[in-house]
Amino acid sequence: MDTCAPTLVASVLPADFSELGQEVRRLEKAGVDRIQWDVMDGKFVPNLTFGPDVIRANRDAVSMGFEAHLMVDDPDPMLPRWVEAGCEIIIVHAEATRHLHRTLSAISDLGARPAVALNPSTPLEAVTHVLHLVDLLLVMTVNPGFGGQQYLAAMERKISAARAEIQERELDVAIEVDGGIAGQTIGAAARAGADVFCAGSALFTGAGTMEDRVTALRDAAVAGIEAR
Ligand code: DX5
Repeated sequence: MDTCAPTLVASVLPADFSELGQEVRRLEKAGVDRIQWDVMDGKFVPNLTFGPDVIRANRDAVSMGFEAHLMVDDPDPMLPRWVEAGCEIIIVHAEATRHLHRTLSAISDLGARPAVALNPSTPLEAVTHVLHLVDLLLVMTVNPGFGGQQYLAAMERKISAARAEIQERELDVAIEVDGGIAGQTIGAAARAGADVFCAGSALFTGAGTMEDRVTALRDAAVAGIEAR
């Protein structure tokens, strides 16, 4: 039975963008572990969100960590900007850069923690050659671009394969899932091998308070991890 403690990450995509400072403070008070900034460029994904100045403006509102999920084409030129904005983890998509090994090394050289994301149609094999360079692998459980989408259970095979590869190679790589993570899906993602869970809609809407929703998600993730 696995007993590692889950990490709960909040996506700010469903937040009230006119009150982002209050929203991140609300998330911290509710007990999430980290904030995910869903950065979108309107090219890699059909949506456009925010840049490093918006993240920087909210850095001092809370003390918890920030991760930048770069759903952008060619992320290399702006890598320093996300680190300067206060993001400790920089997630790039394997599909978005021509030289992934170089991009991940550049994130490390900036003193940040490198992470790589896979779209649903991208196989784990696309990143096995760089897993030793990252702290975290993000397995998308929706097609990126929008919140509130249906969880893709078919991704559980990829999550399990990633868990097996990481364990076989004795790598220290966390597996994050993002997209449709809610009370009825987080347990299956945890059982498959995820230990970091990014949720947006399930934190901002639903029964009870935000604190109640954080507790319910965390409890379901613990149960899923223990059931592996
Ligand atoms: C997709 C986004 C979403 C968001 C969370 O590009 O990255 O996955 O973080 O969305 P929901 O509302 O599904 O938790």
